[in-house]
Amino acid sequence: MKLIDGKRIASDIVDELTREVAAIDGAKPCIAFIRVGEDPASVSYVRGKNRTAEKIGIRPLLFTFDEDISQEELFAKVDELNQDSSVNGILIQSPLPKHLDEQAAFNRIDPNKDVDGFHVVNAGRVVQEDATGFVSCTPAGIIEICRREGISLEGKHVVVLGRSLIVGKTFSLLAMQKHPNANATVTICHSRTKNLVDITRQADVLVAAIGKPEMVTGDMVKEGTVVIDVGINRIDDSSKKKGYKLVGDVKFDEVAPLASAITPVPGGVGPMTVAMLMKNTLKAYKLQSN
Ligand code: GUN
Repeated sequence: MKLIDGKRIASDIVDELTREVAAIDGAKPCIAFIRVGEDPASVSYVRGKNRTAEKIGIRPLLFTFDEDISQEELFAKVDELNQDSSVNGILIQSPLPKHLDEQAAFNRIDPNKDVDGFHVVNAGRVVQEDATGFVSCTPAGIIEICRREGISLEGKHVVVLGRSLIVGKTFSLLAMQKHPNANATVTICHSRTKNLVDITRQADVLVAAIGKPEMVTGDMVKEGTVVIDVGINRIDDSSKKKGYKLVGDVKFDEVAPLASAITPVPGGVGPMTVAMLMKNTLKAYKLQSN
């Protein structure tokens, strides 16, 4: 079993981007983060993204709003950042509070500044296999892990657990593209899938992005499967200083001995999401400079 070190791969990408940004004369790329409320996971993710941006030399701007912000107030901030030519990328941290229409907020972002790739235009470009757009960072990060680790998806049966736009649906589209890093046969499973185990046991590559702690158990995986665990779940653990521990969607101790390669949680897909966000921000900067 090979343990895939997403932290190291992400750190390689960060180094590559740092060199690229250092070579830019004049104003450096800039990313604006919008966070609503104080969800602890969101606070932590945005802090991490901020830190990585600073490390690379990308200028981060952070705008935080109270939980009860209205859709109009949120739109007004997005409009302002869309107009501001010194801002290259805009990210609205998900999830937003229930009273807000999250997809409408994503669609308010200028598609050329949509470094998360959640705008309807960028989602459409993925469907059309148009590489000029922005691809959502977690799915792009998984493709990048496979590329850099020499894991070919060509002709493989890729089984994806979860159908979210942020991960499952978009990754499925990428994996089946007519592309040397893709060309997979894809099955998408979700909460209503019947005979789940029969399907997951057929997987050459299993991507778990369903948000259920340790849901994928040993009996669901055949020997030799590549297992990509996208889940980041906080589980109460009084023995930890923070009072919780992070676990993935995969029961690691059971599945790892069966897998030919597996991503851990933490230190697997998570850091790749941030690295790909920074890559998208540099892409946005170049697009807007031309
Ligand atoms: N919440 C969980 N993942 C993501 C992501 O990739 N981008 C944003 N904006 N919010 C998220």
